[in-house]
Amino acid sequence: MKYPLRLSFRAERGIFRISPGVYPEEKKILPFVQNDKYEGVEMTITGEKFKIKGTNMYSINKHCFKEFKIAPGHRANYAILCNPEFKEKQWGMKYSPANNYQREYKILPLFSHPQIPVRYEEGKGVMYKDGQSVLIQNYLVMTHFEGEDVVEYYKRKGLPDQQEIGRVVQYFSSATLPLTHMHSRGYIHCDIKPGHLILNPVTGTMALIDLECTIKTGEIICGMSKEYASPEQKEMIRLLRNGESEKSVLKKVRMNASSDLYSVGLVFYRAITGKLWQDGAIPPKEINKDIPEKLNKVVLGLLEENPYNRIQTAEAMKAELEAV
Ligand SMILES: Nc1ncnc2c1ncn2[C@@H]1O[C@H](COP(=O)(O)OP(=O)(O)O)[C@@H](O)[C@H]1O
Ligand SMILES: [Mg+2]
Repeated sequence: MKYPLRLSFRAERGIFRISPGVYPEEKKILPFVQNDKYEGVEMTITGEKFKIKGTNMYSINKHCFKEFKIAPGHRANYAILCNPEFKEKQWGMKYSPANNYQREYKILPLFSHPQIPVRYEEGKGVMYKDGQSVLIQNYLVMTHFEGEDVVEYYKRKGLPDQQEIGRVVQYFSSATLPLTHMHSRGYIHCDIKPGHLILNPVTGTMALIDLECTIKTGEIICGMSKEYASPEQKEMIRLLRNGESEKSVLKKVRMNASSDLYSVGLVFYRAITGKLWQDGAIPPKEINKDIPEKLNKVVLGLLEENPYNRIQTAEAMKAELEAV
C-alpha cells in the first residue's frame, strides 16, 4: 500500500536514516519545507533505509540537492537534485542570487534534442542548508547531464594518443548533433566553451548546455566568453563599444552557424593539444604528434578567421570527422 508520510531524518556518516522504522517502496522523494524550515524529505514508503549522498542538506523550495558543485569564479552554482524521477532522468539546478534565468527558460523549449537540456522550472526561493536559511536564489531546473567538461577530461587523462584520438573524434562528432538541431531552427548558441560541452565518455556523447546567450542567426549578440569567442563576435562587441548603432553593426557583421563552429574549433584544439590556439596558432599536429593529418585539417578548417573560408555547417564538420 502506498501512502505519503512526512518523516524526520538522522544523519549518520553521510547516510540519512528514516527514524520510525518505515520503509521506502519506490525511491520517490520530495523535500519539504515546514514553517520556513527544511525538515527532511517527503516520500511514498515501504522498503528500507534510503541513502542520500553528502552530509549537508541543501534545498530551495521543493527542490532538494543530492550533490552539488561550485565552479570557482563562476557566477552560477549547480546542483544535482533528488527529484522524484531521478532514476530515469536526473534533474539539475543552476542557481544564483544575482542572475536570473528567465531568458534561458524561454529559449530552451525552442529545442527538442537529447543533448540539449529540457527545462522544468524557473523560479526564486530561499536556499536552506540543514534547516538554516542561507540566501535567496534565482534558479533554473533542467535535465542533468552526467559527465564533465571535455577539456578538463583530457587535462586529467593526458593528451589523447593514437588510440584515444578516435574517441575524441567521436565525441566532437556527437557535439555536432545538438548544434545541427539548433542551427537548423535558425538559432546559434554563441557561448560555446569547454564548460558548456559536457562529455559523457561512457555513452560517447557530448551535451550542449547554457543557452543563456543563444540568439537568432543574424541578431546582435547578448554576451560571449572572450577566450572562446569567434572573430565576428569580437568585432561586433568592438563596434558596439565604439558607439555604433545596432543597425549599423548588423550591416557590417553577421553572426551565423559558422561562428559557433569557430568556438567548437577552439575547444577541440585545446582538448587535443592542451594549449590555447590564441597562444601562437601552432597547427595541432605540431604539438601532438598522434594527431592525423586529416584531423589537423578539420580543426584548422574550424579555426579559419574568415567565416567564408571556415567549415560552414555542423553537418559538414561531422562528415569531415567521419573521414578522419
Ligand atoms: N544540464 C547540466 N548538466 C550537467 N552539468 C551542468 C548542467 N548545467 C550546468 N551544469 C554545470 O554547471 C556549470 C555552470 O552552468 P552554466 O549553465 O554554464 O551556468 P552559467 O549561466 O552561470 O554560465 C557548467 O559548467 C556545468 O559544469
Ligand atoms: Mg556558463
